[in-house]
Amino acid sequence: MKIFLDTANLDEIKNAAEANLIDGITTNPSLMAREIKRTGLESDAILKKITELVSGPISAEVVSKNLTEMVEEARKLKKIAPQIVIKIPMTFDGMKAVRRLNREGINTNVTLVFSANQALLAAKAGATYVSPFVGRLDDIGNEGMNLVGEILTIFDNYNFKTEVIVASVRHPKHVKEAALMGAHIATIPYKTLNQLFKHCLTDQGIIKFDNDWKDANK
Ligand code: G3P
Repeated sequence: MKIFLDTANLDEIKNAAEANLIDGITTNPSLMAREIKRTGLESDAILKKITELVSGPISAEVVSKNLTEMVEEARKLKKIAPQIVIKIPMTFDGMKAVRRLNREGINTNVTLVFSANQALLAAKAGATYVSPFVGRLDDIGNEGMNLVGEILTIFDNYNFKTEVIVASVRHPKHVKEAALMGAHIATIPYKTLNQLFKHCLTDQGIIKFDNDWKDANK
């Protein structure tokens, strides 16, 4: 399973990229707004810097709502770097934009997906990626990961090429379940990436090895 980082924070991306563990980046308008405030940089400059740090796909989301404006915004974003993927919200106009961009060879990531039927429509429209938001479904008492299982089954049934990005990840259990289900990608916050390294027995083991070594070499 590929791991994307779900952030626009340049420091986080730089640090994760150094470990060579990150296959791509996803952003959204909230994450971009946070980084604009933090750095004072403009949105396009932030995206450009991200593309210099990570060579994989970088999702940048349109903020326009109607078809013509979404397509125009997507074309501008794509000019920042070839690996930019256009994140489009799951709406009727959004799926028309996906179809149009697909014909132009521009990769898309359909976002704010909360049902299997939405994912089916995105795949039929020609989306490169579809992003079910598991954490936000959990928040309202649903089992977000069940949706991922449904989407993977549907895509498998019809040999859709669209890849599933498990999004709105909140904890390592989401990541493990995504990998067990065979999801193509999980996009995870920086905090979750750090949690993946951790186990209390690893910490205890390091301390014990250290103490034993010091004891023998007094
Ligand atoms: O990738 C989508 C993600 O950024 C949404 O996450 O935590 O705001 O639900 P969250």
